[in-house]
Amino acid sequence: MADGWDARQYLKFEDERTRPPRDLLAQVPLASPRRVYDLGCGPGNSTELLIARYPQAEVIGLDSSPDMLDQARKRLPGRPFEEGDLASWSPPAGTDLLFANAVFQWVPRHVEALQRLLAALPGGGCLAVQMPDNTREPALELMREVAQSGPWITALAAALAQRGDLPTPSGYYDLLRPHCARLDIWHSIYNHVMAGAQGIVEWFRGSALRPFLDPLSKDERERFVAEYTAKISSAYPPCYDDKVLLRFPRLFIVAVR
Ligand SMILES: C[S@@+](CC[C@H](N)C(=O)[O-])C[C@H]1O[C@@H](n2cnc3c(N)ncnc32)[C@H](O)[C@@H]1O
Repeated sequence: MADGWDARQYLKFEDERTRPPRDLLAQVPLASPRRVYDLGCGPGNSTELLIARYPQAEVIGLDSSPDMLDQARKRLPGRPFEEGDLASWSPPAGTDLLFANAVFQWVPRHVEALQRLLAALPGGGCLAVQMPDNTREPALELMREVAQSGPWITALAAALAQRGDLPTPSGYYDLLRPHCARLDIWHSIYNHVMAGAQGIVEWFRGSALRPFLDPLSKDERERFVAEYTAKISSAYPPCYDDKVLLRFPRLFIVAVR
């Protein structure tokens, strides 16, 4: 796919990937929103949760990836899905809930985007966001290590610059609290059970590895993945049943305007 997103690869771990949006939605305090947007809806797994929770609402999925939108339309026929870029998108009037699971980590200057979206909500409207806060975890550090130590370093300059560390909870509080009446920020650390180092590599092929693999030739990609897998094997030791635990910290924000 032109934009690098691959819905099938992403959904190999659907149960694990859908748990954070369930946990986020559980804290959304709205009883009957009129219009709900699922921002970065991906293949529709998070959209499905919103439809189940708010059957009376107009629930719309928005994503920048045509491949993800195709999958979402197949999964939820007859439901509205729109192509758009969150770097500049604003909600239409009458939107009460903006739900964004695992997308704003990809949006440049995402705090400004969150401030802009909050300002566009009516009083009582809600912005609910979850982002991986895992840039210091071995899985991501090792990705950067392999990128920096191979012949591909120039080709991967953009990937290396793409995702910086998230601000701290108090950083987000100071930046968002002036724009809302109530703000709840928390972390959850998941420990996903993976089938060995290979499982961890497969997980990240559907997300954080994409920008590192997309610019490479087929041979380079194979070499990159082999080096990365070897490093992951040392960093994530097997449990008694040969499974490995992928420690995965995530940051949650629920802001009510
Ligand atoms: C990790 S998936 C999240 C899918 C789903 N929300 C979930 O809960 O599993 C991230 C999605 O964000 C989309 N995305 C990335 N950057 C975006 C942007 N600037 N504007 C809109 N969507 C974007 C990607 O196409 C992808 O479908």
